[in-house]
Amino acid sequence: MSSKKPTKLRVIPGNWLEPFDFAGCFPHPENPLEVDIGSGKGRFLAARSGKYPDVNFLGIERMLVRVNSSGRLCERAGRENVRLLRMEGYYAVNYLMLPESVDNYYFFFPDPWPKARHHNNRLFNDLFMTALHRTLKPNGLLHVATDHLPYFEEIHELLKADNRFEETDPFIPDDEERTDFELIFAHKKIGRCSFRKKTNRE
Ligand SMILES: C[S@@+](CC[C@H](N)C(=O)[O-])C[C@H]1O[C@@H](n2cnc3c(N)ncnc32)[C@H](O)[C@@H]1O
Repeated sequence: MSSKKPTKLRVIPGNWLEPFDFAGCFPHPENPLEVDIGSGKGRFLAARSGKYPDVNFLGIERMLVRVNSSGRLCERAGRENVRLLRMEGYYAVNYLMLPESVDNYYFFFPDPWPKARHHNNRLFNDLFMTALHRTLKPNGLLHVATDHLPYFEEIHELLKADNRFEETDPFIPDDEERTDFELIFAHKKIGRCSFRKKTNRE
């Protein structure tokens, strides 16, 4: 029952066909915007938004039950700098996010779709990468982590081969920021990489 209670932190754009000003949904729209794609149960969002109250955090998650539970987790923690969007990740980034509006993207433990015949369902591909690039600010960062090493290698190779991005030191979460899935897979090797969007002058 309680897991179905809606969160007040959910954002519902009035028009799903036009880019949306997500920054305008926060009390301080001028603050940096960071986006967690596939934010799941929200452990990372709740911890990171507490550590950085002057940064706005948007979680994008397609499962309503997770949007609500992560939103209520952040509400209970008193976070004013978190909002949740229930939406498919590629659609949200490609069609709803304003150009050069995002400081950091987090892409943690994306569904790996391990069977070869299901690889088409993977979210990370050339189109997704182009949408991330267009919506990142210059020097903005993309952080990736997953326990599924073949998917990690695929993402890492795509990013390394793309001269619009430059590899930087990987993002290492502190204990509180480790996502729910990272805790589940704590016994496994985790692939991590981070890339910076180059500026026009590079
Ligand atoms: C394996 S879980 C990881 C959740 C969280 N990032 C973590 O590390 O604990 C993947 C999450 O991404 C969501 N998801 C998968 N594909 C998605 C998509 N195309 N758009 C939005 N969310 C998606 C799933 O519903 C799920 O909550």
